[in-house]
Amino acid sequence: MVRETRLSPLIFILFTFISFIAIFYCQDFSSSHRRQQFSALNDPPPSLDELKHKKSEERRETMLPFAVGKTPEECDIFSGKWVRDEEDKPLYEESECPYIQPQLTCQEHGRPDKDYQFWRWQPHGCDLPKFNATLLLEALRGKRMLFVGDSLNRGQYISMVCLLHSLVPENGKSMKSSYESLTVFKLKDYNATIEFYWAPLLLESNGDGAGSKVSERIIRNGSIDTHGKFWEGADVVVFNTYIWWMTRLKLKILTGSFTDSVQKFEVLQTEDAYRMAMQSMLEWVQRNMDPKKTRVFFTGMSPSHTRSIHWGGEPDGNCYNETTPVEDLEYNWALHAHESIMKIMDEEFSRSSVPLSFLNITRLSSYRKDAHTQIYKKLWSPPTEDQLANPKSYADCVHWCLPGLQDTWNELLFAKLFYP
Ligand SMILES: *[C@@H]1O[C@H](CO)[C@@H](O)[C@H](O)[C@H]1NC(C)=O
Ligand SMILES: *[C@@H]1O[C@H](CO)[C@@H](O)[C@H](O)[C@H]1NC(C)=O
Ligand SMILES: *[C@@H]1O[C@H](CO)[C@@H](O)[C@H](O)[C@H]1NC(C)=O
Ligand SMILES: *[C@@H]1O[C@H](CO)[C@@H](O)[C@H](O)[C@H]1NC(C)=O
Ligand SMILES: *[C@@H]1O[C@H](CO)[C@@H](O)[C@H](O)[C@H]1NC(C)=O
Repeated sequence: MVRETRLSPLIFILFTFISFIAIFYCQDFSSSHRRQQFSALNDPPPSLDELKHKKSEERRETMLPFAVGKTPEECDIFSGKWVRDEEDKPLYEESECPYIQPQLTCQEHGRPDKDYQFWRWQPHGCDLPKFNATLLLEALRGKRMLFVGDSLNRGQYISMVCLLHSLVPENGKSMKSSYESLTVFKLKDYNATIEFYWAPLLLESNGDGAGSKVSERIIRNGSIDTHGKFWEGADVVVFNTYIWWMTRLKLKILTGSFTDSVQKFEVLQTEDAYRMAMQSMLEWVQRNMDPKKTRVFFTGMSPSHTRSIHWGGEPDGNCYNETTPVEDLEYNWALHAHESIMKIMDEEFSRSSVPLSFLNITRLSSYRKDAHTQIYKKLWSPPTEDQLANPKSYADCVHWCLPGLQDTWNELLFAKLFYP
């Protein structure tokens, strides 16, 4: 497997999982598509808050595509709490959705509790609209919805398929991988597709083929179209990228092409490389998406729960054996994500003139230490005796059981799509 002795075991676990399986505070960074113009040269540049405010003002004046209503202005749907709900949750059963990959079917793999399935996200300022699969399917008639990113985005994609598929009879739907990176769920009668495109770093990289065993990441600058050409024509796009930037491997930026006989590199800090990718993605959106007809989303960082000490647990524990969310709403959720990366998203999305809805799922997911797959998933190889003696050593505290947390991400996506 991965022989990288300098990696801590947790990073090792993280890296192993992402190698083998092929992240909403109410911030809409939408605006008109022209660059912001500032009147006098002597004016101080506007602050990020001013930019965001201006954008949300502009957004309110225009009706976004797909919108059927509005979320109350003062309501931040990403700020709230988890409420136990045994009546309406889960939205589907694990056994009723054949599309969940075995890495996420926790019940099938022996998870003893089902508690993680019965939580509803309750924003402080309003109620979330009820997820209406009929409404979404009708809105997708003749259209293409596309998720682009890593295995966490694949989880959100599968959750979406699970939320919709039961409305469609068996002979009206199909799921297939057309080629390595693209998975297409087709809804015949709706002439619609819901697709997933694997591009864990969005840019072309040596992580594009699943299972690559590398000690350094090579990412090609200016390569967004390599994958981007397969995204053209999509009506709703949901991007994510995060975890693959966090492997503590060296990040080398290829300035030429992967096929050059002599390759030229620059070594960048994770933050700088991540900013480069954000800018490429926004530039791609600017060139390819029509803001009058289409919508673009970006899911923020999905938090990992690799150290229980972060929520006041045992000093050497992780998400293993956790069955309840963190109750203290004030706990330091940022320990599970990188604030520096959050800041880059914030800056780049605010400055860009591209209309993009940011799904700020980081804090709300941080409370869900109970929602990971832990050891209840299909493993790449059977656990060793040492591992069996100490199950937390091989618990996956990155990915999420389905049904579960990621259904809520899609309820938030639904809210932002129809009630921006
Ligand atoms: C769901 O959406 C459909 C289509 O717009 C509508 O007819 C139906 O009343 C909605 N259902 C609920 C429960 O709101
Ligand atoms: C199906 O949808 C595509 C766009 O995704 C459109 O070009 C095509 O005309 C539609 N076909 C039918 C039969 O409605
Ligand atoms: C990436 O490419 C852009 C545009 O070609 C350039 O402005 C930028 O400096 C490059 N970044 C790196 C790290 O090479
Ligand atoms: C799991 O949690 C239960 C109760 O919270 C505890 O009794 C048990 O010892 C824990 N198991 C492990 C392996 O940590
Ligand atoms: C996301 O939510 C967190 C927690 O409320 C907040 O600190 C952060 O600024 C938000 N990020 C963006 C880009 O809006």
